[in-house]
Amino acid sequence: MPPAQAFGWCGQGPCRHRGQRLVSFVAARPSIHGVPDVESAMRPPTLSGYQSGGSSVHGSAVPPSYWDFGERKEDPIHRIHAYPAKFPAFITTKALRYAQQAGVSVDLIADVFCGCGTTAVESMRSGKNFWGCDINPVATLIAQVKTRHYSDAGLRCRIDAIKSLFESCEPTTAELAAVSKRIKYWFSDRNTEDLLRLRRAINRVVPNRSRYRKFFLCAFSNILKPTSRWLTRSIKPQVDPNKPHKDVMDAFASQVAQMRMANRREGMAASSSRPGTINLAGYPCPVVNKSA
Ligand SMILES: C[S@@+](CC[C@H](N)C(=O)[O-])C[C@H]1O[C@@H](n2cnc3c(N)ncnc32)[C@H](O)[C@@H]1O
Repeated sequence: MPPAQAFGWCGQGPCRHRGQRLVSFVAARPSIHGVPDVESAMRPPTLSGYQSGGSSVHGSAVPPSYWDFGERKEDPIHRIHAYPAKFPAFITTKALRYAQQAGVSVDLIADVFCGCGTTAVESMRSGKNFWGCDINPVATLIAQVKTRHYSDAGLRCRIDAIKSLFESCEPTTAELAAVSKRIKYWFSDRNTEDLLRLRRAINRVVPNRSRYRKFFLCAFSNILKPTSRWLTRSIKPQVDPNKPHKDVMDAFASQVAQMRMANRREGMAASSSRPGTINLAGYPCPVVNKSA
């Protein structure tokens, strides 16, 4: 088998519970700009994927436990923001190990439906270069934050400044008048006002040019569901008329604390390894850098 310089995911990712195809590895042609060979990727037994239940890796049977994640929690970095249908991170690491065992030298990992960046994080940790995109700007926002290291002192002084501005500002009449019916449906008046105050504080402390802006926007994004009337643990948008009040600043402060802890841990791990380069694109996607 010729060594591939890049490989990626195709299909809609893994499903561990329904006996569907788990992962399709697309062995790229020797050029990293080659079109992924999807046809051959679907054809066992080349570097083409595992089938759950009675499948084989290198000709030997794969026990069901091979894909069993058990009860182990994902690392904190993978839990900084909720996202539907995330990969379990170990799928990526197993895929890489499989490729290496098959003698494939992987330089670049691509994920064209990268979601919140599970594969991006694992690629970076493994010292591999990564290219990914997603049609959802919230997905690429989360993925960018998860794959960037921030100074903890920089984060601490900014959250302190956001908290103190939040205390001292009130939403303007114009801001309140601009609140749409849809927002009013999902948020109480109190939380709508607090979210407006928080947004103003974030905009002042971390303006567009700040490298910390995405971190705090990501934190803001992840408190929207818990501070709304959206039924907890429901993926479907559904109002819970009895949902207890959740304070906006309490939720934001604890979200930022959790993200800081994950960021510190990743920073400590990265200092002892060579991180891969990360290239994440929104939509429409720029062309991959030919010199990458
Ligand atoms: C199952 S999720 C991927 C989750 C990802 N593996 C993770 O761990 O976060 C599928 C993703 O495909 C994205 N998507 C759907 N259609 C797309 C398209 N035409 N182009 C790019 N991304 C698309 C969705 O926005 C969603 O984030």
